[in-house]
Amino acid sequence: MNADVSRYGVLGQPIAHSKSPRIHAAFAASLNQKLLYEAYEIAPDELAPSLARFHADAWAGFNLTVPHKQAGFALSETRSDAAVAAGAVNTLIRTATGWHGDNTDGAGLVRDLVANLGVAIAGKRVLVLGAGGAARGILAPLLAEQPAIVAISNRNPWKPEEIAAALKPLGNIVPRTHLSLKGDQYDLVLNATSAGHKGEVPRLPPGLFAPGATAYDLNYGPASRPFLDWAAAQGASRLSDGLGMLVEQAAEAFQRWRGVRPETSAVLADLRG
Ligand code: ATR
Repeated sequence: MNADVSRYGVLGQPIAHSKSPRIHAAFAASLNQKLLYEAYEIAPDELAPSLARFHADAWAGFNLTVPHKQAGFALSETRSDAAVAAGAVNTLIRTATGWHGDNTDGAGLVRDLVANLGVAIAGKRVLVLGAGGAARGILAPLLAEQPAIVAISNRNPWKPEEIAAALKPLGNIVPRTHLSLKGDQYDLVLNATSAGHKGEVPRLPPGLFAPGATAYDLNYGPASRPFLDWAAAQGASRLSDGLGMLVEQAAEAFQRWRGVRPETSAVLADLRG
């Protein structure tokens, strides 16, 4: 292997269908940069020894995906504000002594909504469904856009209470239960649950979408269909899956590693094609 070429990778389980190697290869080619980016299937109990080995072998950075984002946070020697707000890490940057943990998921989502889709967040009513790692990763960057309100609702009603209390200093975030959403209306509804992977939709009251509202699923492909189909039937005006977020979080990670943000539209169009 050419030691002059910086090496990066994505660690997850499962990892076979990850689009990240293709995305980062396209970014590198578009900027005429030489780098290696590979996907590795790593079991949870292998994460710590693997990261130690990769560090000793002078690897430059990693993306972490399911199920490693929380463990990656714990294994990071230093952490960005975004990582701390999320309690999770999706990007590791090599330092002399260990790994710096960052989280680009929320920045990627906001970029996809505002820059790619033209969906305003400032002053709008936003509903986040779910209270797991995916939801936690996006809340601080959403609040930074100064929406009128961010409601967070989850099947297990206790988690939103905890999350909203912790993030209260960042903006107007309120906990809800799926049931107590009855009568509310939102301009943007974000599905950050994993229900779609089982072909399911959170059990929500009707009438949540305000006129002109957008429904966005953080998942992409078949896992996004149940929620987006439900949202269409509920009268949501605009629908989007999370493929743009995937590409934008990758671009944010690339920028942290390489100091330059790649252009994303061609890669996104290619993936959609
Ligand atoms: P992730 O890292 O993808 O967020 P997670 O931490 O396991 O994964 O969280 C999954 C989220 O999807 C949780 O908010 C979960 O709700 P609970 O906290 O009540 O378990 C939510 N979820 C999963 N399946 C669901 C379903 N069928 N209906 C509604 N919510 C569901």
